[in-house]
Amino acid sequence: MDAEWKWDETLFSGAAAYYRRGRLPYAPGLADALTETLALDGHGRLLDVGCGPGTVALPLAHSFDEIVGVDPDAGMLTEAARDAASVGVADKARWVRVRAEELPAGLGTFTVAAFAQSFHWMDRDLVAAAVRGMLRPGGALVHISDLKTEDLSVGGLPHPAVPQDAIAGLVRRYLGPVRRAGRGVLPHGTPGGEAAVFARAGLHGPQRLVVPAGQALERTVDDVVASVFSLSSSAPHLFGGRLDAFEAELRRLLGAASPSGRFSERRPSTEVFIWRKSPPGYAV
Ligand SMILES: C[S@@+](CC[C@H](N)C(=O)[O-])C[C@H]1O[C@@H](n2cnc3c(N)ncnc32)[C@H](O)[C@@H]1O
Repeated sequence: MDAEWKWDETLFSGAAAYYRRGRLPYAPGLADALTETLALDGHGRLLDVGCGPGTVALPLAHSFDEIVGVDPDAGMLTEAARDAASVGVADKARWVRVRAEELPAGLGTFTVAAFAQSFHWMDRDLVAAAVRGMLRPGGALVHISDLKTEDLSVGGLPHPAVPQDAIAGLVRRYLGPVRRAGRGVLPHGTPGGEAAVFARAGLHGPQRLVVPAGQALERTVDDVVASVFSLSSSAPHLFGGRLDAFEAELRRLLGAASPSGRFSERRPSTEVFIWRKSPPGYAV
């Protein structure tokens, strides 16, 4: 992370209400693939770190006795709790408003800890060490993200592609040329290379899993607007009093790009790296 950038609690302010609608879902087979690969049997506890609206934890609820999501954004946790109730797993779900840097936060021990597109926002060495300490012997840490290396072009699909370059240009016109993040800027983006961090924390692995997707999705203008507001770099709070003006311009731009108001996208595959607390061959 840029040395000058400091995390602050506004990072995803206002994004939660747009998150589920806006973000492309993970691969449909993700929960089943994790359940099989990690030999989950309906027992144990899952810790979802930077859980957002419970994207990863909720579909895995039936594979554990308890799921615990932690996130510093109150709006995300409100969405997670609402969705847990609507899918009937509220009794085994707990949502805790803390930063990962505050772990273990008295949450106990876990069979599996998940980081889904969240680890890059954290003080990574500190958090990896704390979470390793929270894993039971034989436990696993999973790092989940969209696969970045596949071709998701929409040629041959019925609608035009989302005009990402034009959207980025509009965001820059409102928010300036450098990527925004909370109250600061991130000229060089978020860090990669998490494998070295997990290895430094004493975890073993990784085992790589790609859960394939690629299905065609039809997205509306509202979906695309939600996707823009779901990002930390264009979260609603960043626009201040110009939020309505930005949204109106965004909708005009999208209307011009697709008179039908529909866009085609492809669901990305999901890449998972599994790190174990104990070396291979360890008997639980
Ligand atoms: C891109 S979202 C991912 C949400 C969810 N895991 C998913 O895959 O859909 C990143 C999440 O990380 C959370 N986050 C950011 N910094 C964090 C920190 N230091 N500790 C814990 N969570 C953090 C944000 O509030 C946000 O909900």
